[in-house]
Amino acid sequence: MTAITASMKRARFGIDAPTVVRNLLAFGIVTGLLACFSLMIERPLFFWFIFLNLFFTSLSFFVTTLGMIYSSRLFKPKHLAKLTSELNLQGDEEILDMGCGRGMFLCEAAKKITTGRVYGIDLWISQDQSNNCEAATWDNVEALGVRDRIDLETADMCDIPYADEKFDVIISSLAIHNIPTYEGRKQALKELLRTLKPGGRFVISDIFHSKQYIQFFTEEKGVEFTASKPIYWTCPPLTVIRGIKLKETGSQK
Ligand SMILES: C[S@@+](CC[C@H](N)C(=O)[O-])C[C@H]1O[C@@H](n2cnc3c(N)ncnc32)[C@H](O)[C@@H]1O
Repeated sequence: MTAITASMKRARFGIDAPTVVRNLLAFGIVTGLLACFSLMIERPLFFWFIFLNLFFTSLSFFVTTLGMIYSSRLFKPKHLAKLTSELNLQGDEEILDMGCGRGMFLCEAAKKITTGRVYGIDLWISQDQSNNCEAATWDNVEALGVRDRIDLETADMCDIPYADEKFDVIISSLAIHNIPTYEGRKQALKELLRTLKPGGRFVISDIFHSKQYIQFFTEEKGVEFTASKPIYWTCPPLTVIRGIKLKETGSQK
């Protein structure tokens, strides 16, 4: 009975930035209602100006809300599956997911490994993902049948609790931009390079601060990387940075 219940569980990865989505929806409804009310009042000369302004503001809030829900629910699963399969994992890698949240990228990587291990670290911040907590991630890990390959840890990616040069691959999706300062984001990238093995690879898929990441990796000796053009099929647009820590580089901390 327990086995049947466990296998019937579906993985659920929630919505990113739920507070932003909720606020955008609320603004859309309020401005939409104001546009409707404006139709009922006596129409002064500038009526159409007010009505059209409210109408298009409301429309843009609704479109952005839908765009964000589409990005979390439909775009991201395909995007992360593609990024994982492009890594051509051998199966024996030690992999770290920085800011794993409810575990979509983490589980994609775990599906591709056999003797390796995938480690997820996160602070489980609820405003960054709906129902964001370690238990929800374990539920997804269970539902996808990859529990034997995964370790989760509550930890700040600016201070990764693992030894230098531990990981063959480091992945991160929509997480580093949540660190509020440039110094903090740089520290997370330094930690990425510290914990990556020489010859190890990384993939960062993120929004907003990709120019800073590009600047950071450009200034770092011993890293080769490429950055994609912004991908506009998702809201907000994101950039993918793929890189390798060259073999002659030592620890970066
Ligand atoms: C938008 S969610 C993305 C989660 C997951 N990577 C995905 O793509 O579904 C961002 C995640 O980053 C985590 N996060 C934010 N700041 C962090 C920090 N300094 N250290 C570790 N995790 C952090 C949040 O708790 C959240 O789970």
